[in-house]
Amino acid sequence: MERIQEALAKARAERQKGSARQDEPAAPPRAVPQMPAVDDSWAALAPFKFNRTLLRRNRVVAVESGREAAPYDLLRTKIIHQAQTNGWRRVAIVSPDMGAGKTTTLANLAFSFERQRDMRVLCIDLDLRRPSLHKVLGQGPDHSMADVLNGHVRFAEHGLRLGNRVVLGLNNGPATRPSELLLSRDARDALDGIETDYAPDLVLFDISPLNASDDNIAFLQNVDCAVIIAAAEVTPMSRIDHAERQVAELTNVMGIVLNKCRYISDAEGYDYY
Ligand SMILES: Nc1ncnc2c1ncn2[C@@H]1O[C@H](COP(=O)(O)OP(=O)(O)OP(=O)(O)O)[C@@H](O)[C@H]1O
Ligand SMILES: [Mg+2]
Repeated sequence: MERIQEALAKARAERQKGSARQDEPAAPPRAVPQMPAVDDSWAALAPFKFNRTLLRRNRVVAVESGREAAPYDLLRTKIIHQAQTNGWRRVAIVSPDMGAGKTTTLANLAFSFERQRDMRVLCIDLDLRRPSLHKVLGQGPDHSMADVLNGHVRFAEHGLRLGNRVVLGLNNGPATRPSELLLSRDARDALDGIETDYAPDLVLFDISPLNASDDNIAFLQNVDCAVIIAAAEVTPMSRIDHAERQVAELTNVMGIVLNKCRYISDAEGYDYY
């Protein structure tokens, strides 16, 4: 882990040497929407249907706190700290290539955030090409986020409430024109409207891997920051560095998560997982 951090720090320093952007002021934090009376809109959402066996099978281990949930709780705490320090609200979960664990991480974070008091969080599946958050969570929604972004379905009829602090925006299959939709004005307005109606402290987005298309990279201009997920022993350093550069051109890099680690020292705070 230290070697990765050192290598990334070195790559960053190299980049900054020649960077004309270094003196540019940081983008101003996104304005916090007015807090409407949101309790009723949260209470009116359909509840999440639990299938603990399926969740377990899909490696959703943060349903309850404990040893297995600890890494996700730690990630949650770091996300909260970074978001609050920098005034960030929209967080994209990205990875250079497919299969690094974005959806699994977001599914676990949803439960971890549900156990966090005093915060309200939306978890939205915007991987419109190969959506899978609904499968990992064992839900069969009637509609998709694509219908909401198109304006065909109201989020109030689609969102699922996980406990009292997390709302999920899922899909039931791929969207027909993900590129056009993701970058459309309708989609931007729909997301702004959801934020106004539900006043979340954080909005976490699952998106397609960066190498899947240009549209999800372009979508990053709509978020405040991104967490990059890399798969231990699979994602090469060069791919992580490239992803960090791609992301940094459009938004802030909140951090890099090394997922699927087989061996973790006690110093990291948890055992083998
Ligand atoms: N921490 C982990 N330990 C072991 N396996 C994991 C871990 N996280 C995810 N996986 C497994 O890796 C596979 C890919 O995970 P997931 O679907 O979450 O990745 P993804 O980045 O969302 O993929 P895609 O890019 O295709 O959307 C799944 O089989 C999942 O169970
Ligand atoms: Mg995924």
